[in-house]
Amino acid sequence: MEEVRLQKFLAEAGVASRRKAEELISSGRVSVNGLVVTGMGLKVSPKDRIEVDGKVITQEENKVYIMLNKPVGYVTTVKDQFSRPTVIDLAKDIKERVYPVGRLDYDTSGLILLTNDGEFAYRFTHPKHEVEKCYIAEVKGTPSQLDIENFETGLEIEDFTTAPAKLKVLNKERYSSQVEIIIHEGRNRQVRKMCEAIGHPVLKLKRIAIGKLKLDTLPEGKWRKLTYKELKLID
Ligand code: URA
Repeated sequence: MEEVRLQKFLAEAGVASRRKAEELISSGRVSVNGLVVTGMGLKVSPKDRIEVDGKVITQEENKVYIMLNKPVGYVTTVKDQFSRPTVIDLAKDIKERVYPVGRLDYDTSGLILLTNDGEFAYRFTHPKHEVEKCYIAEVKGTPSQLDIENFETGLEIEDFTTAPAKLKVLNKERYSSQVEIIIHEGRNRQVRKMCEAIGHPVLKLKRIAIGKLKLDTLPEGKWRKLTYKELKLID
């Protein structure tokens, strides 16, 4: 029977992404055959009795890949410390134990993926993947040509310089504009910070695409499984 590292076992069982599984282990929430394990080296097989918070974990064979159109006012964690609604509340009718891939702010809407495939979540959110993410934002005022160029060359945000990004003005109103923004990174509140840095703070933000996956007509608050074709596109 194949042995794999504990964190990989947990990720494959759909408990959490590999990174989160490592956190579960180091915080002492995982036991193997009755003993709490906090180090990362241990190899396990399905013959071992693995528990997280006292709950026995079995390998889940059905991998599911979901896209959800998150409304504003939901967090993209499985549980929230302030008991705010989570995207998992919107996916209650999915029988597998899914969790979000990456994140969107509480006040951002749009495309988020859910899965029980920890390896997929790990690969997809790894910085070296650099998947392109497309947002539609309403920003204060109207970004100038210089702002667009600064987006392309990189902006100083706190302690780092952003990778080349695109900004296109789609529509101008009197006091605000609708813009399309494409970034390849996923730092915390990155789009908001970039817009702040050019002096055009975000008023409203929606993610409409991740790589070749597009939200299209999926209604807000609803989810659907990715098609076979879409899965091939992102693999
Ligand atoms: N950038 C942000 O500022 N917020 C998001 O939710 C996603 C990207």
